[in-house]
Amino acid sequence: MSPTTEPWGYHIFTYGCQMNVRDSEIMAGLLNSQGGTLQNQAALADLIIFNTCSVRHSAENKVYGKLGEYLKIKNSRPGMIIAFGGCMAQIPEVVNRVKRMGVDIVFGTHNLHLLPQLIERHHQGHKKVVEVWPEHGEIIEALPSQRNPGWSAFVNIMYGCNNYCSYCIVPYTRGRERSRRPQDILAELQALAADGFKEVTLLGQNVNSYGQGLPEAFDFADLLAMADSIPGLERIRFTTSHPKDMSDKLIDTIAGGRNLCEHIHVPLQAGSNEVLKRMNRHYSREHYLEMVAKIRERIPGVAISSDLIVGFPGETQADFEETLEMVEKVRFDSAFTFMYSTRTGTQAAKLPDQIDLRTKRERLLRLNQLQYAIAAEINRGMEGKIEEIMVEGPSKTDYRRMTGRTRTNRIVIFEGCPDLAGELLRVKITKGNTFSLFGEAADGKSIMK
Ligand code: SAH
Ligand code: SF4
Ligand code: F3S
Repeated sequence: MSPTTEPWGYHIFTYGCQMNVRDSEIMAGLLNSQGGTLQNQAALADLIIFNTCSVRHSAENKVYGKLGEYLKIKNSRPGMIIAFGGCMAQIPEVVNRVKRMGVDIVFGTHNLHLLPQLIERHHQGHKKVVEVWPEHGEIIEALPSQRNPGWSAFVNIMYGCNNYCSYCIVPYTRGRERSRRPQDILAELQALAADGFKEVTLLGQNVNSYGQGLPEAFDFADLLAMADSIPGLERIRFTTSHPKDMSDKLIDTIAGGRNLCEHIHVPLQAGSNEVLKRMNRHYSREHYLEMVAKIRERIPGVAISSDLIVGFPGETQADFEETLEMVEKVRFDSAFTFMYSTRTGTQAAKLPDQIDLRTKRERLLRLNQLQYAIAAEINRGMEGKIEEIMVEGPSKTDYRRMTGRTRTNRIVIFEGCPDLAGELLRVKITKGNTFSLFGEAADGKSIMK
């Protein structure tokens, strides 16, 4: 598998968050530069890469299941190489386990740029190639990358996390927070616009603290304003915002933006101040409510979404009720809800009073029932409104229809032809459900080409 040999195919299984989606694009770029091509049928690929996530036990389990399946296939195709990277690979116990299982190459999040060299070492006869950097090095710019097709691109603005929320493994798998230089981000955004991308999502574990450690004073609000000035980028999204770092300047910048989408993903995690303290989140429910009020006052029509965890160690029934109460008060447009999952090495793993699975399940169910009812109510309230959507492509559930997204990140399903993909359209919302809206052409204009 070098530029001089036969054509070869690779397949990448990507788990976890948008960071991993973006990392997989870079891996694909690196492999293409070595003469590889994407093989959609994984079982026929010469090289299989697992880009893994360790945020919850369930995420790891999915990976182990699929890995077992492909190690069996490898038995009948001895030339096949299996490489294991991503967040799970930063955990020494995982590395030992997958080595024993029969993985050929292991690489971490801090050294994915070395993937071609590691593959080369394997070819030179090293049967097991394991190289995982425990710490990050300098940010490496301009790595090749093969972006996923479409009009929307992910752009890293920073890496790592310094927050050490007590339940979370990410600071251990992604290292300390560091920001890319504004000029490097600008160059990438301009290149994306020139390539026809219309939407970008700026990525960071806590975008609100972007800019710390840069030689110049330049914060996330400055970065958004810069991105908003680039011709061709019609929609600018960003994720994730931490409630403790939501500045007035940032809210005002979003409010005054042209193409800055009115959607803020700002996870609350839990509604009880006691739990928030033990989670090491550095804000109170009162602070969160004030922040939401300010955001809604200054950014009309904004959507606010959240992540919520039930069953954090020591969470009493009363604490949980406080989460429900916050959900009712805030009325999130959408929320990702999780059962707490113990991550070895984190502070919360050492806390007493771990909650049993049955209680966690019951709480998750109640939380979901409430959140879904609220989302459905909000979406029903959209009926009759005119929304601008960016068309994404045919609906996954009904191929005769198309889907698009509003600026507030709501999915709209409508009748239209596939040529519309990538276009901005005005639609009238005809129906609102829990997870999506239905729409039709606005202004009497046909959206059938
Ligand atoms: N940096 C982002 C994303 C972190 S991971 C943020 O701060 O929001 C995405 C979500 O996974 C978190 O927001 C949290 O709700 C959830 N999560 C993280 N660790 C978890 C754990 N150990 N158990 C359950 N959910 C967890
Ligand atoms: Fe994890 Fe907290 Fe960092 Fe998000 S902010 S990645 S939840 S430690
Ligand atoms: Fe998972 Fe790593 Fe993202 S743990 S959520 S893939 S940063």
